[in-house]
Amino acid sequence: MKNIRLDGETVYLRSITNEDTPLVVKWRNQENVIKYFIYRGEFTEETHTNWLKTKVETGLVDQFIVCLKDGDVPIGSTYLRDIDTKNSKAEYGVFIGEEGTRGQGIGKEILNLTVKYAFENLKLHKVYARVIDTNKASLYCFLHSGFFEEAFFKESVLLDGQYRNVIILSRFNPDEGDGFFENKEYKKEILGGFRMPMPGKE
Ligand SMILES: CC(C)(COP(=O)(O)OP(=O)(O)OC[C@H]1O[C@@H](n2cnc3c(N)ncnc32)[C@H](O)[C@@H]1OP(=O)(O)O)[C@@H](O)C(=O)NCCC(=O)NCCS
Repeated sequence: MKNIRLDGETVYLRSITNEDTPLVVKWRNQENVIKYFIYRGEFTEETHTNWLKTKVETGLVDQFIVCLKDGDVPIGSTYLRDIDTKNSKAEYGVFIGEEGTRGQGIGKEILNLTVKYAFENLKLHKVYARVIDTNKASLYCFLHSGFFEEAFFKESVLLDGQYRNVIILSRFNPDEGDGFFENKEYKKEILGGFRMPMPGKE
């Protein structure tokens, strides 16, 4: 596995190790994390160890543990998954497991660090994410970080007995000439529930 450290202002990211497994399993099984994930399969030490072996060790996934600089406290994880070297793209994922550290700007910092790594180190062309549209904190993070709404899938996943909309947010590598995308009106639209007319119940 890799041994990388990426420094931000309040957190740093370090490559995940096998020793992080119990923490990751604990965080990933918390209700406040599960509810924002589409994947609802069993998440155990065994399944995570298998993920490390088949995805991280093989280079399909680049995963980090997020640590507070103050005290080196691990608080969550971020990753680039399905790294597609042919088409030069990957999907972004994140979870902060330590509840007390949310809502302080750390989510934005993690996203910026991971995306910088994706573009500057991996030289990817595109990073994208799938977000359930009720996940306001996540949507705000992306909209602050130059992502745009690429697709909207209406009532696309059945979670906790409810059909949920899924938004695909993407960003292209600015080193390839794309400017930083920041559009406040767009943000209002996406979070205010404005959508093009679509069939189905509303
Ligand atoms: C998504 C997540 C990483 C965001 O991290 P965070 O540290 O809480 O987010 P930040 O403090 O950086 O806030 C980002 C923005 O969202 C806003 N925000 C945060 N929590 C919010 C909430 N509950 N409702 C509405 N907005 C919220 C913040 O105000 C900020 O926007 P602003 O700068 O315009 O004020 C974190 O909430 C998390 O781990 N969630 C569970 C797992 C998850 O959702 N993963 C993503 C799946 S795609």
